[in-house]
Amino acid sequence: MRYLVTGAAGFIGAAVAKRLAGENEVVTIDNLSTGKEENVPEGVEFIKGSVADPGLIHSLSDRKFDAIIHIAGQSSGEISFEDPVYDLQTNYQSTVLLLDLARRCGCRKFIYASTMSVYGDHNPPCCSEDTDLVPKSFYAVGKTASEHYMRIYSDQFGIACTALRLFNIYGIGQNMDNLKQGMASIYLAMALSDHKINVKGSKDRFRDFVYIDEAADAFIKALSRESGYDVFNVCTGKATTVEHIIDIIKDALPYDIDVKYTEGTPGDQFGIYGDYSKIAKELGWKPEIDFETGMRRMIAWAEKR
Ligand SMILES: NC(=O)c1ccc[n+]([C@@H]2O[C@H](COP(=O)([O-])OP(=O)(O)OC[C@H]3O[C@@H](n4cnc5c(N)ncnc54)[C@H](O)[C@@H]3O)[C@@H](O)[C@H]2O)c1
Repeated sequence: MRYLVTGAAGFIGAAVAKRLAGENEVVTIDNLSTGKEENVPEGVEFIKGSVADPGLIHSLSDRKFDAIIHIAGQSSGEISFEDPVYDLQTNYQSTVLLLDLARRCGCRKFIYASTMSVYGDHNPPCCSEDTDLVPKSFYAVGKTASEHYMRIYSDQFGIACTALRLFNIYGIGQNMDNLKQGMASIYLAMALSDHKINVKGSKDRFRDFVYIDEAADAFIKALSRESGYDVFNVCTGKATTVEHIIDIIKDALPYDIDVKYTEGTPGDQFGIYGDYSKIAKELGWKPEIDFETGMRRMIAWAEKR
């Protein structure tokens, strides 16, 4: 099979491309804005460039892909406020360009790294795919709009489109230099480099953490979908507070960590976790790695770097 996996120099894209490389032909596009070329798995054709560049995407029209898996993007709500146009181009224009590439080159499957941010804040905070979408950041608006484009491309052009609403993905391989994305990686990077953690927002905020290998598996399972548009939560159904993440980090490291709490970032959700029964039932995906086990694996990896 031939796959275009965007963003394979990044955390999630590399893990997905690695699962597909070897037995399949895999091409990736990545502009290395947050990713590193050394993350691109062996055997994957690497095209350096932007997924928001119409000329580059158009130049692929003669290629044949069995599926396009669109993972490249900027993943920070904070950055979407600092530069809304950059966010729009990277996360939303890119989706439209790639969907249209799928239409032109006869690709029948499109899978997208969407996000739990599309839900916004809810009470109760457990979100299923039927929960209303109330995006709170421009980042989340771009992801929501991308999902709607997928639905319409599927209806109009018969492409099987699958949006995976990823909750917080963490684990080995996460970018420890990007202090604007990834709660677990940000706190761990600060603890390792300065023995200090600066938390933007309350310690009572909570998220639903999914280990990277299991997130990559959700993309592989989504490849089995043959028609129509659908959306799935990729989550564990468990809420983990900021305070608990920090306790695990403090407990695992052999020195004292100074923790400071400052004002939160705009558009940050207070607390969210998800219901994964739909993806379990329809795609046979189920999370098995609990947060503490995954986090200890990640800490051991990060300490050795
Ligand atoms: N990590 C999470 O918890 C999480 C949660 C929900 C959704 N997502 C989504 O998953 C995707 C991947 O996230 P990640 O955690 O692997 O981040 P990452 O920063 O590690 O990877 C993103 C990759 O995309 C590349 N990229 C960025 N803009 C690009 C552009 N315009 N053209 C080409 N390449 C570009 C980067 O260089 C990087 O290699 C993002 O779309 C993000 O919104 C991530």
